[in-house]
Amino acid sequence: MKNLNNKVVLVTGASKGLGASIAMCLAKNGAKVAMNYLSDHSRAKKVKSTIEAKGGIVRSYAYDITEVTAVFKMVDEIERDFGPIDVIVNNATGPQPLIKLEDQIWDDYLGQMNFFVKAPLFLLKANLKKMQQRKVGRIINIGSEVVELGNKEFGHYVAAKGAMLALTRSWATELGPFGITCNLVAPGWIPVERHLGTSEEDHNLYTSNLPLGHQGSPNDIGEVVAFLASDSSKFITGQKIAVNGGKTFL
Ligand SMILES: NC(=O)c1ccc[n+]([C@@H]2O[C@H](COP(=O)([O-])OP(=O)(O)OC[C@H]3O[C@@H](n4cnc5c(N)ncnc54)[C@H](OP(=O)(O)O)[C@@H]3O)[C@@H](O)[C@H]2O)c1
Repeated sequence: MKNLNNKVVLVTGASKGLGASIAMCLAKNGAKVAMNYLSDHSRAKKVKSTIEAKGGIVRSYAYDITEVTAVFKMVDEIERDFGPIDVIVNNATGPQPLIKLEDQIWDDYLGQMNFFVKAPLFLLKANLKKMQQRKVGRIINIGSEVVELGNKEFGHYVAAKGAMLALTRSWATELGPFGITCNLVAPGWIPVERHLGTSEEDHNLYTSNLPLGHQGSPNDIGEVVAFLASDSSKFITGQKIAVNGGKTFL
């Protein structure tokens, strides 16, 4: 059990998938959870009710994190509800289409950068001064193993996740003197709602060279994020933690 009592945590993209599990895990450990999402109100409501049913503290915020005004408005609202944010989990993602190289256009790259570079930057900017003054802060970026695997037809997504890893290291260096840490959790393929309908063959192919021999669950990611959000991780910064059953060794 990690003690996150009284920590105010923002999780982007928490209406479903990994974000929902991360929000649940953080709430289970005592954090006050601000769950962000875009438009799926019914799923967000379900996640919120699940957390509340277990005694967790949670509020939801439907804002587009790729829009600067929306981000600053959301952060103001969270601060009014809970006080200053201690932990930001950059998890939200838009669609992740596979596109053959000859069909890829620059906007495909910008589209992914919006989520994995632009939104984290806006969220940091909206919280930076307060974090620096309070000498408190954890930035937890959700990356991906694709940076090591170099999946084909996915250059736009892989490049944006690579940029997210790079900014994790640069921010860690610059924020360290203020006691703010910045790390990245790199999940393997963790089946979530959007993978429903994926063939058994694809799952078997993925696990065939996986040391642990099976795919992980969203809770596996939530537990590592909860560790990074807690005081137990206070001497860890600028790191990538792969949570992928040993698929990669970097
Ligand atoms: N699952 C995996 O296998 C896997 C593997 C490696 C890395 N990852 C990474 O893990 C993270 C979560 O992935 P996932 O598979 O759990 O995704 P997901 O199930 O598709 O969920 C995406 C979330 O992002 C939200 N969102 C979309 N656009 C948004 C916007 N403009 N502003 C705010 N929120 C927005 C969605 O909200 P609405 O529901 O309201 O649209 C939803 O809550 C991503 O960064 C992904 O790259 C996942």
